[in-house]
Amino acid sequence: MDKKIKIAIVFGTRPEAIKMAPLVLELQKREEFKPITIVTAQHRQMLDQVLELFNITPDYDLNLMKPNQNLWSLTSDILMETKKIFEETKPDIVLVHGDTTTAFATALSAFYARVKIGHVEAGLRTFNKDYPFPEEINRVLADSVSDLHFAPTEGSIQNLINSGIKDESLDNASGGSALDNSIKDKRIHKTGNTVIDALLYTIKKNIDLSFIGLNPNLKTILLTSHRRENFGEPLENICDAILDIVQKNKDIEVVYPVHLNPNVRDIVFRKLDKIERVKLIEPLDYAPFCALMKKAHIILTDSGGVQEEAPSLGVPVLVLRDETERPEALECGCVKLVGTDKERIVSTVNKLLSDKEFYNSMKQAVNPYGDGLASKRIADIILKYFKS
Ligand code: UD1
Ligand code: UDP
Repeated sequence: MDKKIKIAIVFGTRPEAIKMAPLVLELQKREEFKPITIVTAQHRQMLDQVLELFNITPDYDLNLMKPNQNLWSLTSDILMETKKIFEETKPDIVLVHGDTTTAFATALSAFYARVKIGHVEAGLRTFNKDYPFPEEINRVLADSVSDLHFAPTEGSIQNLINSGIKDESLDNASGGSALDNSIKDKRIHKTGNTVIDALLYTIKKNIDLSFIGLNPNLKTILLTSHRRENFGEPLENICDAILDIVQKNKDIEVVYPVHLNPNVRDIVFRKLDKIERVKLIEPLDYAPFCALMKKAHIILTDSGGVQEEAPSLGVPVLVLRDETERPEALECGCVKLVGTDKERIVSTVNKLLSDKEFYNSMKQAVNPYGDGLASKRIADIILKYFKS
């Protein structure tokens, strides 16, 4: 193939943008590629924050977000709008990321258009279809229609194989084919997670956090929570745990950049607004958020991305979920699952605040998710896939 390889990179939410941005920048640098950036804008403000930071101007902006949108209309809008763009631009390959509705619906749309699909952050699984909802099924579906799987870890490769995704090169190797281990036939690749590329790019920046108004005499607990399965009672429990923690520990303050989903905001502002030493703030730009993670004494979160980033920064993380598709940091000891039971959250935070040995055992910087070179690897693999 002498002409440039046309790569449509499609994303729509904050975490996809953060994790696809380093790949967009990498593809733009190489003359063999013609990248076409398409944003569904499943998120609007939280997506734009990231585009600005990485200086990315999308070629197509579908501007699909609606207030309190639902999964049905979002899915059908993405299918219909990407259809038009795929017909117009005729990409050689479409890249999607992770487990959002943008990722799943775009992968399905590309499949209908008979275009090759590459899935970045392939192979994450809880093997529980309701948890996280709807992300577990979104990623299973995206994986099942993809041609290339960019798996972040050894565990995610195993999950793909256990899900019945075939790595043709392994078949060929056992069958003694002439194409043994040819990159052309290899579908599953371990690349690391591009989130570490984004984190290392961002953490270098000197960020002034004074606009948040943190009290220098207090320890910071950083909180984020937005998962659909935590809406309602689980999120109420999390808020009750925070009330208990700030009441009993006068030397800490909690900072919560509140996600823009109204299902989150209604509960959080009702329970935690105007509480002493609880700061509810708007979603932070990625650079100050990274600086705040680094500064935090403890992080409480149900976010996927934060679970991957915080271990690199050596900050203990308590995950407000019962299951995770990211077991690697649990194994390293710097992340613990605490679920959404109020007493369990309170007792684990209190233990971290009072037991130095326990705190130090969790405060270790490890990098199970990548080394900052994932985007380069993905670009190399795509090049070899089309050129060999
Ligand atoms: C979505 C993803 C979830 C991901 C999360 C990251 C799906 C089904 N869910 O969940 O996997 O973890 O993003 O944050 O793909 N809103 C705004 N402005 C924004 C963003 C959201 O106002 O910039 C509000 C809108 O009212 C929107 C609502 O939040 O309708 C929900 O957004 P949506 O993308 O459907 O769900 P999330 O909970 O953000
Ligand atoms: N993040 C951010 N600002 C915030 C909160 C989070 O930039 O106020 C970043 C965070 O560092 C991570 C990503 O957003 O890279 C995670 O997004 P989110 O938690 O919304 O989604 P998930 O990863 O759970 O899908």
